[in-house]
Amino acid sequence: MRKQIAIIAHGGAGGIAHPQRRLNGLKKAVQAGYDILRQGGSSLDAAERSVIVLEDTSVFNAGTGSYLNLAGEVEMDASIMTSDLKFGAVGAIRDVKNPVSIARMVMERTDHLLLCGENATRFARLMGAKYHDPRTGEKVLIWRRKKRRRESTHFTKFADFIGHYGTVGAVAIDQNGMISAATSSGGINLKLPGRVGDTPVIGAGTYADRNGGVSATGHGEEIMRQLLAYRVVALMARMRAMKAGRIAIAQATRADCQCGIIGISKNARILCLHNTRSMSWCYIKNGTMRHFSRRD
Ligand code: GLY
Repeated sequence: MRKQIAIIAHGGAGGIAHPQRRLNGLKKAVQAGYDILRQGGSSLDAAERSVIVLEDTSVFNAGTGSYLNLAGEVEMDASIMTSDLKFGAVGAIRDVKNPVSIARMVMERTDHLLLCGENATRFARLMGAKYHDPRTGEKVLIWRRKKRRRESTHFTKFADFIGHYGTVGAVAIDQNGMISAATSSGGINLKLPGRVGDTPVIGAGTYADRNGGVSATGHGEEIMRQLLAYRVVALMARMRAMKAGRIAIAQATRADCQCGIIGISKNARILCLHNTRSMSWCYIKNGTMRHFSRRD
């Protein structure tokens, strides 16, 4: 029996600057993913395609338009997972256009789950990914402004950087009931070179199993401590998606973890919650699109 199809994407929980540009990017991303699902395609293709669109939309902190690290370079994290527990990820990868596609190549073409740093970039080149500088003038300006105020070489206080972290992600369920989740991020503005966040850590930024799939966004260090994506999916085994999300977000809030989550359960129930001031998101289910408003 054909299952219900659905897709949800987020553009991060670190503040909604340029809401119209975000909304346009998210609409385009979920529509591209939904078109794949409607034609009978896989949730893996749909989630990857949605994240590619978001990585290519420079308003988001992922792919082109990622925040710069303390040294003025872009180092990106990405992961992808399917509900049959296949997983692939890259951490601190440089100079590629679509880290999520490299994560998928790690999943499908290697025996490993996670490749990091210059060897992740080298792997991407071996797989045919061309050189691409993801820095944009807009993010270089933000980096310069912030850097002037912070000359130290150590990243000590996250509070200074509120609004300067972010992620994109997508979760989809296809007509065969397969669920896939994908997440991609430039990390935190002015992070230490080599810093890897929650995004490529299985169970932290991304998780999927037969009960559901989740992509998380927010402060990576705390999300890793919470194993946030796994926690939500594990709760989904026993309760409805929104209830699972509410419990996990309440636990995260008690632990001072600033975050947002999107997810889809095996019954195609949608989940979208955050404890930050705002989060941008968009989904399509039953052919109907819904999205964030400025109040989110
Ligand atoms: N959640 C994105 C990061 O902290 O790297």
